[in-house]
Amino acid sequence: MVVLFMLCCLLIIVPCSVEAAPPEYMYHICRNSSTNTPNTIFQANRNVLLSTLASNATQNKGYYNYTAGRNSKDMAYGNSLCQGDLVPKDCQQCVTAATDDIKNKCPNGIFGIIWYAECMVRYDNKAFFTLFGVEEEGLAVRLWNTQNVTDEARFQQVLGNTMNNLVTKASEGKPLNDQTIKSFALGTAKLSSLQNLYALAQCVPDLPEAACSRCLRVAVNLLQYHSNSQGGRALVSTCTVRYELYPFYRNIATAPPPSQVTSPPPAPPHSEGPSSITGHKGSIYVYFYKLMLSSYTK
Ligand SMILES: *[C@@H]1O[C@H](CO)[C@@H](O)[C@H](O)[C@H]1NC(C)=O
Ligand SMILES: *[C@@H]1O[C@H](CO)[C@@H](O)[C@H](O)[C@H]1NC(C)=O
Ligand SMILES: *[C@@H]1O[C@H](CO)[C@@H](O)[C@H](O)[C@H]1NC(C)=O
Ligand SMILES: *[C@@H]1O[C@H](CO)[C@@H](O)[C@H](O)[C@H]1NC(C)=O
Repeated sequence: MVVLFMLCCLLIIVPCSVEAAPPEYMYHICRNSSTNTPNTIFQANRNVLLSTLASNATQNKGYYNYTAGRNSKDMAYGNSLCQGDLVPKDCQQCVTAATDDIKNKCPNGIFGIIWYAECMVRYDNKAFFTLFGVEEEGLAVRLWNTQNVTDEARFQQVLGNTMNNLVTKASEGKPLNDQTIKSFALGTAKLSSLQNLYALAQCVPDLPEAACSRCLRVAVNLLQYHSNSQGGRALVSTCTVRYELYPFYRNIATAPPPSQVTSPPPAPPHSEGPSSITGHKGSIYVYFYKLMLSSYTK
C-alpha cells in the first residue's frame, strides 16, 4: 500500500519537476543606421513585425517569416525559428522573450538578430529571404562550454563523423516525423561505454538544400575554435549546430518504417530531380562572417 502510494506520488510529481526552464539569452548583434536620425516609420514597421512574429511563432512548426510596411524604403523583414524539438508552448515562450528582448537590445537598429538557447529572431531592413542561398551577409557566433574533454583526438573523430552525418540529414530537409519541422536533425554517438555525445543541426527551413549544407559546414568549421570543449554551439543567421555530453533536446520519435500491410509501393528516389539546386547553379555563395566568441558554463 505504501509502495503503491509512493508510486502514485512519483507519477504525479515527476511531470511537475520537468517544468521547462525560462528561455535563456545567448547572444545578439545589432546594426544601427549610419545616419543618426532613426527612421521612425521603419521602427513602427519593425515593432509590428516583431509582434506578428511573437503571435505566430508556433505556426508552421516553429518557423515564421513576415514583412511589415508598404513602401520599400521603410519595410521591415524578419523571421523567427524555434529549435525543432520544442513543444509549441516552449517555442511560444522563447520567441515572446526574444522579440521583447531584441526591442530593448537593438532599439534603433536597422538590423537585429538575437539567439536564445532554443530560438532565434531576426529583423532587417533588407529583404533577406530573397538572398537565401545566393548571397547572405551572415554573422556567426561561436559559443563553447568551458568544460574540456580529456581525449581530444578521439572526441574530435566522433564529433566530426556525427556532425557530417547531421549536415547531410538536415540539408536533405526530410523531417524526423510528420510533426517536426524540416531541415532539423538530431544525433547521438557513443564516446565510451559511459558517455554519449548529443548533437543537433538545423537550418532555416526555407533555405535551399545547397545553401543549408553550405551554412552548416561553415558552422561545423567554427566548432574548431576551442576544439577540446565538452560542448559548443555555432550560431549563424540561417543555421545552427550544437553538441554536448548531455541530452539537451527532447527525444523525438522518428517516423516509423512503413508497415508491410499499409505502405504504398515505394516512390522512386529523387523523383523531383535536382530541383533544390536549380536557379542557384553557378551562383557564388559568399558569406562574410564576422566571428564573435563567447563561453558558457553549463
Ligand atoms: C546602436 O544604438 C544604440 C542606441 O540607440 C546603442 O546603445 C548601441 O550600442 C548601438 N549599437 C551599435 C552596434 O552601434
Ligand atoms: C499572425 O499574427 C497576426 C497578429 O499579430 C494575426 O492577425 C494573423 O492572423 C496571424 N497569422 C496567422 C497565420 O495566424
Ligand atoms: C517568407 O519567405 C519567403 C522566402 O523563403 C518569401 O518568398 C516570402 O515572401 C516571405 N513572406 C513574407 C510574408 O515576408
Ligand atoms: C580548457 O582548455 C582551454 C585550452 O583550450 C583552457 O584555456 C581552459 O582553461 C581549459 N578549461 C578547463 C576548465 O580546464
